[in-house]
Amino acid sequence: MGILTDDMRRVIDEQRLGFIATVTPDGKPNLSPKGTTTVWDDDHLVFADIASPNTILNLRANPSIEINVVDQTLRKGYRFKGVAEVLGEGERFDAIMQFYRRRGSANPMKHFVLVKVEHAAAVFSPAYDLGRTEAEVTALWERHWDDLRRRRATAREAGDAILTRAATEQRDLTADELAQYQQRVVEQREADDALEAERDRELAVA
Ligand SMILES: Cc1cc2nc3c(=O)[nH]c(=O)nc-3n(C[C@H](O)[C@H](O)[C@H](O)COP(=O)(O)O)c2cc1C
Repeated sequence: MGILTDDMRRVIDEQRLGFIATVTPDGKPNLSPKGTTTVWDDDHLVFADIASPNTILNLRANPSIEINVVDQTLRKGYRFKGVAEVLGEGERFDAIMQFYRRRGSANPMKHFVLVKVEHAAAVFSPAYDLGRTEAEVTALWERHWDDLRRRRATAREAGDAILTRAATEQRDLTADELAQYQQRVVEQREADDALEAERDRELAVA
């Protein structure tokens, strides 16, 4: 058995987003998200360089790397520290390319970064220090994401109706429509603020 446990695999597979820390040649931190972060085998993670020139430059000078992946509703995740190998061609490069293509990634990929995980540690929100259960934390955050989706949809629909009418009729917004549109935006913002204040109180430390 390797270093990566079933739960680590689950979080990585489900989230499909890792935050990747490298060190610049002058010793500064460099952190950037990679949606291609995935498990390669029992001891290795991998991600694709699609648009990550600094990460690649840094790793060529210093292969030390840390990757964080967090379950956004459970508010728990993992920190992986290890050593990275940058692959730009060859058998392993081809095998990893095939894997991403089969998964449906259409972007051009310049390199793959294969990370040997040397140390893996759990990381969890201080919300758990307050004695909350996983079910309670999950329920709070699922509501948060549901609210966010609803708010975005409502704002889109309200604004869209006015904009679409003018666009369909191929004309600019009238002064009245513009005022209505701006009023919708203000109302939406007030509703958002109220919801957010309520949610902030509930989430406290999370
Ligand atoms: C959600 C998200 C996922 C991303 N996934 C990737 C990825 O898998 N590969 C990649 O090269 N860039 C990805 N990017 C873009 C890079 O993070 C971005 O180009 C960044 O500026 C690269 O910085 P770096 O050169 O310091 O790595 C992603 C960005 C976001 C917001």
